[in-house]
Amino acid sequence: MEITKDLSCVMTIFGGTGDLAHRKLIPAIYNLLHENMLPENFAVVAVGRRDLSHEEYRDSIYQSIQKFSRLKIDNDLWNVLRNKIYYSKFSFDDNLGYSKLNEFLKALDKEYHTNGNRMYYLAVAPEYFEVIVDKLNNHNMVDTREGFKRVVIEKPFGRDLKSAQYLNKKITEVFSEDNTYRIDHYLGKEMIQNIMIIRFANSIFEPIWNNKYIDNIQITAIETVGVENRGGYYEKAGALRDMVQNHMLQLLTLTAMEPPPSLKTEHIRDEKVKVLQSLEKLTPEFIKSNVVRGQYGAGSIEGKVVPAYRNEANVSPESKVETFAALKMHVQNFRWAGVPFYIRSGKRLDRKSTEITVQFKELPNILYFKENKELQPNLLTIKVNPMEGVVFQFNGKEPGSRNNILPLQMDFCQNCEFESNTPEAYERLLYDVMKGDPTLFTRWDEVEYSWKFVDSILEAWKSEENSFPNYEAGSNGPREAELLLSRDNRKWWNIESNSFCARK
Ligand SMILES: NC(=O)c1ccc[n+]([C@@H]2O[C@H](COP(=O)([O-])OP(=O)(O)OC[C@H]3O[C@@H](n4cnc5c(N)ncnc54)[C@H](OP(=O)(O)O)[C@@H]3O)[C@@H](O)[C@H]2O)c1
Repeated sequence: MEITKDLSCVMTIFGGTGDLAHRKLIPAIYNLLHENMLPENFAVVAVGRRDLSHEEYRDSIYQSIQKFSRLKIDNDLWNVLRNKIYYSKFSFDDNLGYSKLNEFLKALDKEYHTNGNRMYYLAVAPEYFEVIVDKLNNHNMVDTREGFKRVVIEKPFGRDLKSAQYLNKKITEVFSEDNTYRIDHYLGKEMIQNIMIIRFANSIFEPIWNNKYIDNIQITAIETVGVENRGGYYEKAGALRDMVQNHMLQLLTLTAMEPPPSLKTEHIRDEKVKVLQSLEKLTPEFIKSNVVRGQYGAGSIEGKVVPAYRNEANVSPESKVETFAALKMHVQNFRWAGVPFYIRSGKRLDRKSTEITVQFKELPNILYFKENKELQPNLLTIKVNPMEGVVFQFNGKEPGSRNNILPLQMDFCQNCEFESNTPEAYERLLYDVMKGDPTLFTRWDEVEYSWKFVDSILEAWKSEENSFPNYEAGSNGPREAELLLSRDNRKWWNIESNSFCARK
């Protein structure tokens, strides 16, 4: 795949008045400008239904940049950006709206010398993905003879394998795979990109990254917040669809993949797909005892009383939707046979953290391992969010003692070294779309294999009753999630580096 040097384009944000545009996309564009990474020949058209003039829209996003941008707003820079941003009001099913938009985009193309390059960003509810793509096609807005035409699709990409296949068919009838950017913003996070570097650029890790030396791998993405104002969406999704199908399985592929033959997009994606192809098929019996789901009841977080999921806005009082999922799974290939991967994700838990912990095997039961039953294993934790960094736990001698052994830590705290100035995921991802680099986006077969895996769980759950709520808000989740590991004589690790805290 050729990576374009010409970054110029007009970006259309469908859903330009929405939460994602205000909190993430527009601040990311501002930060790219600030970092000198935005092409000079660039403009944005935001589409929404609200009755706003260009000026009113610009004022509204100014507030959002002030509130959400990682970099302080510089008024000179803002004035540069302000004049490149436009607003267009129409409903997604309105043909006239597309005709007018097309004319407007053509005019902007001339004014900004963008060579016919267009990025269509669908920051909209999934039911509109097909409608918008269809209308863009019907209004001749996807012709690649003059400039690139790329579409960016937000998650969720379908709600099961069948709907994802249908959606993909509809999109690829209009946009080729090369021009389809299925976004998984986790892949834009700095520490996620670091996983491959930690693995493949360190001679001390790669040789031991296998079932001979690794006991198990734990992938965690938990948060203290509840569903907030997204109850309507979450009722149709749940933790498995919202987190496991996309983000968690992506983290797993990067952790478990073989070294690619080169850093070319397709080589990396091919290796990720092989991991998904190697996932052990889950039988209903296995799911029953190795997949845990939960839903939070009322509780308290940081001293504040919070309601049960069933009492959140736009949530059914009898909801059976899971806000927590944990599972054990296996990658059945030569590297990983016999190594369990434990995955968990949930809302309203006692802490917020996305992290990957690799637990190494114990040494033979002689010398210190024979004498000291409490000896801790070696652990490597990659902290993704909110702390970014790496912690390595190893055993050492307690100073002054004869032979007492203590777990010690070496760490690299990225937040501390670079403060909060590492780029946000959406900055990197938008830049990559302009550049035409899809490495950090999910290829269709990755989505397809992920849904196949998740569908087997969804199917098994249909015939199983649950007794929700089964964990208290502010706790560490359902008891069964602890049992999932304790049954295997393991436990979930929560490695906090002391120096991370001191330097926070
Ligand atoms: N928010 C996030 O942090 C986040 C994170 C990951 C993924 N996502 C995904 O991103 C997408 C957008 O999420 P969001 O939170 O930004 O949603 P949102 O706040 O509800 O915004 C929806 C946007 O779509 C517009 N819209 C809805 N129906 C329309 C119609 N018929 N015609 C024209 N415009 C219409 C709305 O315009 P008006 O308000 O002007 O009517 C608004 O701009 C969703 O697929 C979501 O799953 C969001």
